[in-house]
Amino acid sequence: MINNKNINFISTEFLNKREIKSILESANEIFHSKNYSHSLIKNCKDKLIFNLFFEPSTRTRTTFEIAASNLKAKVVNFNIENSSQSKGESLIDTIANLSAMRADCFIIRHKMSGAANLIANYAPNNIGIINAGDGSHAHPTQALVDAFTVSKKFKNLNKLKLAIVGDILHSRVARSQIDTFKKMGIRDIRLIGPETILPTEFEKFGVSIHRSLDNGIKDVNVIICLRIQNERMSSMLLPSKKEYFALYGLTQNRIKICSNDVIVMHPGPINRGVEIDTAVADSTSSMILSQVSFGVAVRMAIINKVLNG
Ligand code: CP
Repeated sequence: MINNKNINFISTEFLNKREIKSILESANEIFHSKNYSHSLIKNCKDKLIFNLFFEPSTRTRTTFEIAASNLKAKVVNFNIENSSQSKGESLIDTIANLSAMRADCFIIRHKMSGAANLIANYAPNNIGIINAGDGSHAHPTQALVDAFTVSKKFKNLNKLKLAIVGDILHSRVARSQIDTFKKMGIRDIRLIGPETILPTEFEKFGVSIHRSLDNGIKDVNVIICLRIQNERMSSMLLPSKKEYFALYGLTQNRIKICSNDVIVMHPGPINRGVEIDTAVADSTSSMILSQVSFGVAVRMAIINKVLNG
């Protein structure tokens, strides 16, 4: 999605396969470099980046902060609670004021789907907008981190069998992942979960739907567990955490149903004993902390793309 000067990064839907590949290649170069390239630093140095997290975050906010600081940009972690938002200032007025401080980039996390797009429509065109997760709409940088993780482990993606398990209905991560993985050539994408948090209409995204975890994960190479997002549920959609774990919790016994080379991923935060057993989360198959490490390099590549095209 290209503005007059800067590029916005709002949804993977605006990226084609070539663009995804190019960001992952840049991230790979960054990940393996001891000293970041002169041109990378020169292009990002002293740019003013605002981390605007209107919703809690551990991984995304912090890895963006580290990424921006690695690029020698100036990072402001906007403190929502101590801001004039608490006195009733509107989101648009907050953005107008921060824009007047000569911002180069806004990184936005918001509980409202569409918030990043809304801000992109109001912010001046020379400010790049990065969506760090909006409601249940999209989490494009997480999807690229996850695509990077999968491509680090597997070279031939066409033959891969990949399962996403859990609260797909409320998951911005799942929506962005499905779009990204399909563009990367993964054909066998399975969504697994009960009807209440995985409606059949998700089939329209060209994936298969499974109600049984044991059937769904047969021979898969990648399992991505998702958190049950109680904060986005308007009513009780699951009987109990205990029953959910019995039916959909990823245990070591269930890992045996998968392919021998299976990797386990989770965007975090994880709920041990709900969607994933501790033994699996901490096993050698788990890429959960690698995803976090890769997040810095991938977000450095994304910030550079947004600031410099
Ligand atoms: N994956 C993810 O978005 O985690 P945080 O909420 O901690 O940023």
